Amino acid sequence: MVCAQCHVTYYLDPKTAEVKIPWSQEPNINAVENYFSASLFREWTHTMTEADLVKLRHQDYEFFLGSNHFEAGVTCVD
Ligand code: HEC
Repeated sequence: MVCAQCHVTYYLDPKTAEVKIPWSQEPNINAVENYFSASLFREWTHTMTEADLVKLRHQDYEFFLGSNHFEAGVTCVD
C-alpha cells in the first residue's frame, strides 16, 4: 500500500481537474478497462486509426495484484 499511493493509474477530470482513479472496489487492470469501456471519457484520438483512447499512467499496482509475483508473496520492496 505504500507504493500504491503513487504507482496507480489516474486521470484528471477535464472540468474540475480532480484526480480520478478509474477503478473503485476492485484494483486490477480489468476493472480499469471496464471503467473506461462504460464511460464516455476519452483523452486523445489516435492519428492513424482515429480511435478515441485513454492514457494509462504507471498502473503498476493494478498489474501487480494477481500477478505471479503477488501470488508468490513477493512485495514491491522485494
Ligand atoms: C510519493 C509517490 C511515490 C511513492 C509512495 C512511491 N513511488 Fe516509485 N516513483 C514515483 C515517481 C514520481 C517515480 C518516477 C520518478 C522519475 O521518473 O524521476 C517513481 C519511480 C519508481 C520506479 C522506477 C520506474 C521506472 O520505470 O524507471 C520504481 C521501480 C519505483 N518507483 C518503485 C517504487 C516502490 C517499490 C515503491 C514502494 C516501496 C514506490 N516506488 C513508492 C513515486 C512514488
